[in-house]
Amino acid sequence: MKLLTFLLAAFLPIIPYPQEVELTKGSFNPKGAPFTCDSSIGEKEYAQLALLADNLSNCCGKRSSIAPTIRLKATVDAGQARGFVFLKDGGIPAEGYVIEVSRKAVTVRFPDYKGLLNSIQTLKQIMPVCIYTGAPTDGIRWEIPCCTIKDAPRFGWRGMHLDCSRHFFPVEEVKKYLDVMAMYKLNKFHWHLTDDQGWRLEIEKYPRLTETGGFRDGTCIAKDMDSNDGIRYGGFYTKEQIREVIAYAANLGIEVVPEIDLPGHMRAALAAYPEFGCTGGPYTVWTSWGVAQEVLCPGKEGTMQFLEDVLSEVADLFPCEYIHVGGDECPKDEWKKCPDCQARIAELGLKDTKKATKEQYLQNYVTARMQQVLGSKGKKLIGWEEIMEGELAPGATVMSWKDGKLGAEAVRKGFDVVMTPYEHCYFDFAQSDSKDEPLGGWGTLPLKKVYEFNPTRGFTDEEAGHILGAQANLWTEYIPTSEHLEYMLLPRLQALSEAQWCSNGAKDWQRFRASLEIHLGILDLLGYNYRKPDR
Ligand code: ACM
Ligand code: ZN
Repeated sequence: MKLLTFLLAAFLPIIPYPQEVELTKGSFNPKGAPFTCDSSIGEKEYAQLALLADNLSNCCGKRSSIAPTIRLKATVDAGQARGFVFLKDGGIPAEGYVIEVSRKAVTVRFPDYKGLLNSIQTLKQIMPVCIYTGAPTDGIRWEIPCCTIKDAPRFGWRGMHLDCSRHFFPVEEVKKYLDVMAMYKLNKFHWHLTDDQGWRLEIEKYPRLTETGGFRDGTCIAKDMDSNDGIRYGGFYTKEQIREVIAYAANLGIEVVPEIDLPGHMRAALAAYPEFGCTGGPYTVWTSWGVAQEVLCPGKEGTMQFLEDVLSEVADLFPCEYIHVGGDECPKDEWKKCPDCQARIAELGLKDTKKATKEQYLQNYVTARMQQVLGSKGKKLIGWEEIMEGELAPGATVMSWKDGKLGAEAVRKGFDVVMTPYEHCYFDFAQSDSKDEPLGGWGTLPLKKVYEFNPTRGFTDEEAGHILGAQANLWTEYIPTSEHLEYMLLPRLQALSEAQWCSNGAKDWQRFRASLEIHLGILDLLGYNYRKPDR
């Protein structure tokens, strides 16, 4: 390992690595150091500093005599300051921060709440690891190396997805998932709440979505799609619980982006309301995996009204900028045979072209109506890349998940895109080809392959301006427990965070890999399960 790489990993094992780091001589002793911040700081920001100060004093073990105190001052003279000094600075890019560590002070400048949170995550990573739990710990060298760190994210969309339909994860596990996302500066939680195998979100106007659609009569065993374990399975989140998760995430600087997958992946909804399908059913909540042929019928106005009602409730519930409407893997066989769908196609004057079938244009019509209803609620629409097939209305955002071709086409047509190619970003895939890996999706995704992901590879600078960011997806067909979920997530999440945050020049596999060893210790302290990286 190069000497500099080794030194940086040893003294500043920060993940994701900051854009600019300068290590200088000497160190700062944080034990008992006072906290100072200027009086423009808000209540939420103050609470975060109080938490940090509290943890620091707790793990120093001398709370009464050396507990840091936060003093509010009208102005702070940074040059004279001692201890930790936190200053708001509108000149720093959104979500960014600057940390200067001298022998006397740690001065932190930040432009906004998220910048403060990100600076705290970095500070924790350069302090003794007991700062994560606040547990009293002896025999620690209380030193922060003198350095200057200037940092801001490469991308504004740094997402992690979770499929809570195939398997349901309780609120407490979702919060734990959010906690580890925040540690690595991710800021979008894409919550996949509906699919063929279970509808997980309370909708007041359609109560059977959760009463009936929230539960299935068993689950297929491993990859034998014709089997059934005979165990009734399900669950859903009440609106109150959703609000609780949204608030919890916001406090961590994370926006929750819900997904209502439509017009395919809807068997759970159809089991509850068969009148919204082409055949009228009956349907059951699906007990096996794959792409179901049964989809919603956009030929029936009642179905369109249903979708508009659901999205209205969703838009009212979630304060986020984007609502995800799925759009992936919608087979068109039923629409081809359905008199209502064909009548709608005729009424709209849709025709087959070289580019797409009339049924694909019918899906564009569904997407455009969803975009209108979301627009009327001040929301933007985002969907999987299949929404691009045919003719996508301007203003939509595309999530590219396949080989990147449709993502590239979307970028070139001027749509905003979030890159989430399965080759680098599908965390349901096994982490090696070993037969000891737990059952996973159809591919393999080792840690290094996640690390190598460059979301703008192959694009000009101008095109890259349409790439909002990157995300990994965690589909849960084969993941029934929280322990298994964390095993699939970690430490690939850490590798993802560098692909999302760092400029390409700041990435360095050896430095990352050396730092990761310290982070695995932090995960142990916090009680996360993870896959041990290969040597
Ligand atoms: C997907 O993996 N069907 C988006
Ligand atoms: Zn139909």
